[in-house]
Amino acid sequence: MLYIGVDLGTSAVKLLLMNEKGGIEKIVSKEYPLEFPHPGWSQQKPEDWWEQTVEGLKELTQYANKSDIAGISFGGQMHGLVVLDKDDNVIRPAILWNDGRTGKETEYLNNVIGKDKLSKYTANIAFAGFTAPKILWMKEHEPDLFAKIDKIMLPKDYIAYKLSGVHCTDVSDASGMLLFDVKNKCWSKEMMEICSVREEQLAKIFESYDVVGNIKKDVAEMLGFPETVKIIAGAGDNAAAAIGTGTVGNGRCNISLGTSGTIFISSKEFCVDENNALHAFAHADGHYHLMGCMLSAASCNKWWMEDILKTTDFAAEQKNITKLGSNNVFYLPYLMGERSPHNNPDARALFIGMSMDTTREDMTLAVLEGVAFGIRDSFEVARSLGIEIRKTKICGGGAKSPLWKKIIANVLGITVEVIETEEGPGYGGAILAAVGCGEFASVKEASKALVKVIDTVEPDPDLTAKYEEKYNYFKKIYPTVKGLFGEG
Ligand code: XUL
Repeated sequence: MLYIGVDLGTSAVKLLLMNEKGGIEKIVSKEYPLEFPHPGWSQQKPEDWWEQTVEGLKELTQYANKSDIAGISFGGQMHGLVVLDKDDNVIRPAILWNDGRTGKETEYLNNVIGKDKLSKYTANIAFAGFTAPKILWMKEHEPDLFAKIDKIMLPKDYIAYKLSGVHCTDVSDASGMLLFDVKNKCWSKEMMEICSVREEQLAKIFESYDVVGNIKKDVAEMLGFPETVKIIAGAGDNAAAAIGTGTVGNGRCNISLGTSGTIFISSKEFCVDENNALHAFAHADGHYHLMGCMLSAASCNKWWMEDILKTTDFAAEQKNITKLGSNNVFYLPYLMGERSPHNNPDARALFIGMSMDTTREDMTLAVLEGVAFGIRDSFEVARSLGIEIRKTKICGGGAKSPLWKKIIANVLGITVEVIETEEGPGYGGAILAAVGCGEFASVKEASKALVKVIDTVEPDPDLTAKYEEKYNYFKKIYPTVKGLFGEG
């Protein structure tokens, strides 16, 4: 049997074809544009996602025995607001997870409604990228469009809807909307009222490994797939990536270095960070997790390499870097504002510490280190909650760099486990499809059978000590410059 994982990312949709033994038969990637219509805004057209997913599905299965395709599932960029009218037309471009336009709405939710209430209703507070503040923004700024909303959905759920005709979502992705009671896994009546949303506008909720329905007849015909293909709810990309890296069970950790940077800690029981610096979300394995999210991680390096240095050979730029732990240049990685732990959409990136002898390599290293320090900020929050993390898995585009993995291991002082398949969300999506189709009894069983650690990067005590000092300096930069953000 064959299973398809669709990773609906921010720069591209990546599709992965997996056989029942967990072997990857093929991977296809299709890009789509990302619009920044104002500084700090970030939008995409759901129609582009669908078009490229269809193209990708065709290419992915071109030489496969299509009658073997059993199920399709997803890992999707989280929090994006997708709105459809009563005829299922997309009303406006989706407002994405890294969009910072909702500063006012976020402040209203956190300070007027109050963090205590939000946390009681949803286990989380408001962050600019979450879905609920975007709904309030639409209500205020686009009242005519707001009035037309018939269905509210998340990015990957738009694809599931186009494939199956079922308006569905899963518990992990719904957790990031601030409309979902994470503990009890249902929509929050209070939050619906606060956001002027009716329950009929919201999707039906499933566990990530649940079958939501079969592929629609016309779509099956268009793709040449059997009508028996099942559509499985899937998960937000971080929960899907966690499945794809075997981060299942209690106290396991995964770091994702994608467009965003996340640290994900799985938990059997519902748990909440009392300061709400970490998100308390449901996991795709039927349980829960805590997560810290940086808005710009591998995207910082991509920006620095492609837009500034005008190169695509990232490995060549990293080859001559030797100054680990003794770089005097520091970089704040806040190109799109920052979520965890600062919750400041106005924050911006900066370099500090250059002198006449600063080299190109120092600047590149500062970018990689700045992202690692940003991850450390969330790691420290987890530590302050008494969570002990000794090792982590790693995935995402940035995880392909041996240098970056070494920096992460030493900045955090923990072992980094490298897994055979670094295609986190796509592989996780395919695993969820296999579980949904009954190939495995549970997500835990599937990830135990399929995910293999092939290497480890151990921290070096001398280097960890040096990075400790550097991190202590890094920690002071944001509070020192914070007052400047949002001005000028
Ligand atoms: C998580 C988050 C990002 C996006 C990236 O809260 O906003 O990791 O899911 O696709």
